[in-house]
Amino acid sequence: MCGITSYCGNKQAIPILIEGLKRLEYRGYDSAGFAVIDNKKNIIVKSQGKVLKLEEKKAGKKIDSTFGIAHTRWATHGEPSEINAHPQTDCTKKISVVHNGIIENYLELKEELIKKDHKFVSETDTEVIAHLIEENFNEDLEDAVLKSIERLIGTFGIAVIHSDIDHKIVVAKRGSPIIIGVGENEFFAASDSNAISPFTKKMIYLRDDEMAVLNSDGYYIKNFKNEILEKEIETFDEVSFKTDKKGYEHFMLKEIFEQPETIENAFRGRIIENEGVSKLGGLIPVLDRLKSINKLIIVSCGTSYYAGLLGRYILENLTELNVECELASEFRYRRLKLDENIGVLAISQSGETADTLAAIKEAKRKGALLLGIVNVVGSSIAQITDAGVYNFAGPEIGVASTKIYTSQLVILTLMALLIGRYQGLSYYEGSQVICALKNIPDKVREILNDADKIKKIALKYSKYRDFLYIGRLYNYPTAMEGALKLKEISYIHAEGYPAGEMKHGPISLIDENFPTVAIAPDDSAIDKMISNIQQIKARKGKIISITNKDAKKVIDISNDSIIVPKTIPILQPILNIVPLQLFAYYIAKQRGCNIDKPRNLAKSVTVE
Ligand code: M6R
Repeated sequence: MCGITSYCGNKQAIPILIEGLKRLEYRGYDSAGFAVIDNKKNIIVKSQGKVLKLEEKKAGKKIDSTFGIAHTRWATHGEPSEINAHPQTDCTKKISVVHNGIIENYLELKEELIKKDHKFVSETDTEVIAHLIEENFNEDLEDAVLKSIERLIGTFGIAVIHSDIDHKIVVAKRGSPIIIGVGENEFFAASDSNAISPFTKKMIYLRDDEMAVLNSDGYYIKNFKNEILEKEIETFDEVSFKTDKKGYEHFMLKEIFEQPETIENAFRGRIIENEGVSKLGGLIPVLDRLKSINKLIIVSCGTSYYAGLLGRYILENLTELNVECELASEFRYRRLKLDENIGVLAISQSGETADTLAAIKEAKRKGALLLGIVNVVGSSIAQITDAGVYNFAGPEIGVASTKIYTSQLVILTLMALLIGRYQGLSYYEGSQVICALKNIPDKVREILNDADKIKKIALKYSKYRDFLYIGRLYNYPTAMEGALKLKEISYIHAEGYPAGEMKHGPISLIDENFPTVAIAPDDSAIDKMISNIQQIKARKGKIISITNKDAKKVIDISNDSIIVPKTIPILQPILNIVPLQLFAYYIAKQRGCNIDKPRNLAKSVTVE
């Protein structure tokens, strides 16, 4: 979704801003723009569509500027258009604002400002911020921003410049990330560290209700009460920001193929083999509380929700906890009784998903222990939770989540081991899980070596318009996630279902044009899966099964089978999802879809 970047220093600002915008592209956007000040003139360039178009628009214009702000917009208020793109400006056209988030009371503020003769040109909520700042401006930009944000209800990460004020950028954050980059006599602010990582590895994460003022000789940080804050500068290594495709055609394919390493990264240094337990440094501060909770509610969205669904089965298998799993967007509106004996676990790749953030804020208010599994270090969810575990999987650029899903499953298993070993789980049971986990990366490699076979099957089915995905028990979430992968990148209708539910409705869809992907490994549910497959075959439905080599009956009744290695049932879904990711990828490629940036989707969903 929307992205912000900004620069204040002694180099030409535009190339740095454009490079930042390109590095924000993976988040999904529909227009882009920047504002720079050249000799006290506010120059705004915007365009609908790609950053490349913006670059073309700028080409040929002679602009000399060493500070400015820039933005990629994902439309919320008003259609994607040049007028609605950011930066937005005020009546004097001296103030420029870029904004991530949503201003809930913008209509009320707009009416008030119109009465004071302000003229609005866009449909955005952001334009209100520019006019409010104009209204409060009295030669002091910082003061005007502070006074203006007092009036805002909603979420915002903003960056503001004024053409009369040389080399000053004011940024502020509430509910939407802002990171400050500290370079040599140059300073940056962005909503995502990727945007500024080529220029500096030294960063400061602002918290909610904090603001920063950047100029060419330094920066300072304050809270909204106008009190100066001392904040630690964190230094990140090169690896945390590696975002090239390494020769793969798409980021998604690269990320699928990275899974042996990202799975290993998720458990490396986190298991104590001779005790049959895991060691999760991030949970140590809350270990006593963790031991005393009797219920865990997992909240998340999309792929992270399916990881949570599977996490429920894993935790129920290894611990004595009562586990619920809830979509974050529903959880926050329920009438819930939470207390300190309940843990709420947020799972999120980006750590910025608005629904998940809102859900854990609600849980915090009610006194639950807040835990997180997050990939992006320093993200909002990582900041709000009491404790948590990072994926350490490197940036995931493809909008379709792949390597983070399998990494989330590994971490959920480690959490279950940790909690379970304080409860009934024996050393022997714990060791069996660890032994199986250590073999997973090699088994994923085996599947990836079969990519060409999977591609052949995918091409055979690439023209169908509808698919059903079914699985039972641990593989019911796999069916949901497999279907999500196909629909989001290929725009084919795909429904994931628990196989037992099929006869309660979806089976009426089945005919020779509606293939089913059956996740049917050699486990306790295999006989039931076989009878579901037979019911589909009886209605002329085609079957593609994901199964193990010893499941002869499944292979015999399937039209096509993808064979994956076998592991213990709680870990089998990590192996089963890999061919489904590839299946979706090859179909989408065959159909000529924009795989890394599917239409209408954003990598980080920062609006509710
Ligand atoms: O960053 P998060 O894990 O919180 O994101 C949640 C969903 O938006 C995300 O998983 C989405 O469903 C992906 N596009 C799925 O591939």
